[in-house]
Amino acid sequence: MKRISLLLYILSFFDFAASAQEWIVPAENGAKLSPFAFTDSTRKAGGDLFNLNCKACHGDPGKNNSVKLIPPPPDPASEKMQKNSDGAFFYKVAEGRGLMPSFKNTLSATDTWKIISYLRGFNDKYVQEVAQKAAPGVTLEQVTMLLSWDNEKKQVKVAVTSLKEGVRQPVAGAELKLFAQRYFGNLQVDEVRTTDNQGVALFNFPATLPGDSTGMVQLLVKPTDEAAFGETKTLATMKIGIPTYRPPLNEQRALWNVNKKSPIWLLLTYLFSVLAVWALIVYVMLQLRILFKSGEENDPE
Ligand code: HEC
Repeated sequence: MKRISLLLYILSFFDFAASAQEWIVPAENGAKLSPFAFTDSTRKAGGDLFNLNCKACHGDPGKNNSVKLIPPPPDPASEKMQKNSDGAFFYKVAEGRGLMPSFKNTLSATDTWKIISYLRGFNDKYVQEVAQKAAPGVTLEQVTMLLSWDNEKKQVKVAVTSLKEGVRQPVAGAELKLFAQRYFGNLQVDEVRTTDNQGVALFNFPATLPGDSTGMVQLLVKPTDEAAFGETKTLATMKIGIPTYRPPLNEQRALWNVNKKSPIWLLLTYLFSVLAVWALIVYVMLQLRILFKSGEENDPE
């Protein structure tokens, strides 16, 4: 541990020039708000995440015991840290700078907001403002995405609605990504599309995309802004691909395959070698026994 801090300390000199400057956060990022209200349960979860990901450098909030780097990781309870807007806080954690790592590939947006909720607990003056992007007064669980196929336009149609006071309403301005499921992972189809005032987004679908043997394609739609919509996604299967025979992964000979696909000469060679080794072991044991026996017989006592 000591050695690691020393290494970080030395490395920090190289970053000094860059980090002495003000950390500028783009205005639209700075204005971002958490999609959910900070509560005791988000603070508790955030505390665990902080201890796991941040404490090693930033120390315990309010104790001024951060690791000595240049520039020093600010104490999370300090004025320097707390004067960040929620959006700026989020941006700095996601992007990182110098020795401050980027967490956007490590922590989900939800987890990052939970850490922020925990750290805001060390600021008495803080009053939270919650984002209401999906639609005012709507909880994120009530957002529904419906997929359908427009046969005339040859496009995939996604309709996003949310439930408000018992009534379904279109959600405008939601950025969506569409994926087709492949063997391993998902393939993004078309670019990011935004819902119009009817809550509808249309995706161009390539006419040549292979489906399964009957042309079925499994589609997945997700909002790009996880922070505003939560980790919601919708799956649908549609008959819009080119029927393609996809051989099962173990159809041909491969390392992970079953016995009956291995060639007979390989099986025989293998069996023969194993038998030969065993025969040798048994032979050596027998010889040893003979040796012991004759030793006993010739023992003068
Ligand atoms: C490897 C050490 C390290 C880890 C781990 C780390 N930080 Fe940092 N952090 C730093 C350093 C160094 C800075 C100062 C960077 C600068 O100003 O250029 C910093 C700066 C910050 C800032 C900006 C403060 C300001 O000046 O406005 C925030 C916010 C922050 N860290 C939050 C976090 C959170 C939350 C975590 C955990 C998810 C975390 N950090 C994990 C080293 C670390």
